Amino acid sequence: MALTIQHLISWKQQGRSIITLTAWDYAIAQLLDTAGVDIILVGDSLGMVALGYETTLPLTLDAMLHHAAAVRRGVKRALIVCDLPFLSYQESISQAINTAGRVLKETGVQAVKLEGGHPQAIETVSRLSAIGIPVMGHIGLTPQSVHLLGYRQQGQTPMDAERIITEAIALENAGAFAIVLEHIPSFLAAQITAKLAIPTIGIGAGPNCDGQVLVTADLLGLSEKQPPFAKSYVNLRHIITEAVGEFSWEVREGKFPQS
Ligand code: KIV
Ligand code: NA
Repeated sequence: MALTIQHLISWKQQGRSIITLTAWDYAIAQLLDTAGVDIILVGDSLGMVALGYETTLPLTLDAMLHHAAAVRRGVKRALIVCDLPFLSYQESISQAINTAGRVLKETGVQAVKLEGGHPQAIETVSRLSAIGIPVMGHIGLTPQSVHLLGYRQQGQTPMDAERIITEAIALENAGAFAIVLEHIPSFLAAQITAKLAIPTIGIGAGPNCDGQVLVTADLLGLSEKQPPFAKSYVNLRHIITEAVGEFSWEVREGKFPQS
């Protein structure tokens, strides 16, 4: 059965964790879906992990649409959320509606995610929700603002923590169905999670969120470098290098293929 936003919101009340991972192609999406992942995020981190950009900024909407459609084809159960790329939604409300509309119509995913909790982001979430496009918020460390914020933990001072709480409440009131909390102190994420009726999905935000998300390339040990709060459950870089080495050796030695 395909998951809906209503399922995920009810899981918060039941205390059932929402398992979220990123995907950028058909094969990974199919594996994650079969393994029972609840939300598959076509994150703009794909610009870094799959396309080799330094930051998430260069990713285009066209590239995102291409990847999101591939992910969609691999998924039967999970809810798919697609990141809106940098400058595909910040220019105006009409640009955001146009972009989010294209994402839903051209790829078949069910929801979008956008970064920020400032007044324009709140207004954008409100307008998209009003026309029936589910929006996931994303506050704390927002990688599309890397040139302003760096990759530092956010919410360290009482004033900054207060700002992030205010943003979370404003996002919920604007109609966001869930919020990613990235790289903020654990106590702050716990406080936000307790205040909101919608689920929080944490990354580098401690254990007291309603769900957790990792970039799948980090989980699999595929990334060249990963943030300090990520965890690799397997080292695929090592496994792939070994396999390629073994194949090369067998071909050079005439052991593969066999006559
Ligand atoms: O792009 C991404 O992978 C994300 C997650 C880290 C939340 O936004
Ligand atoms: Na992202």
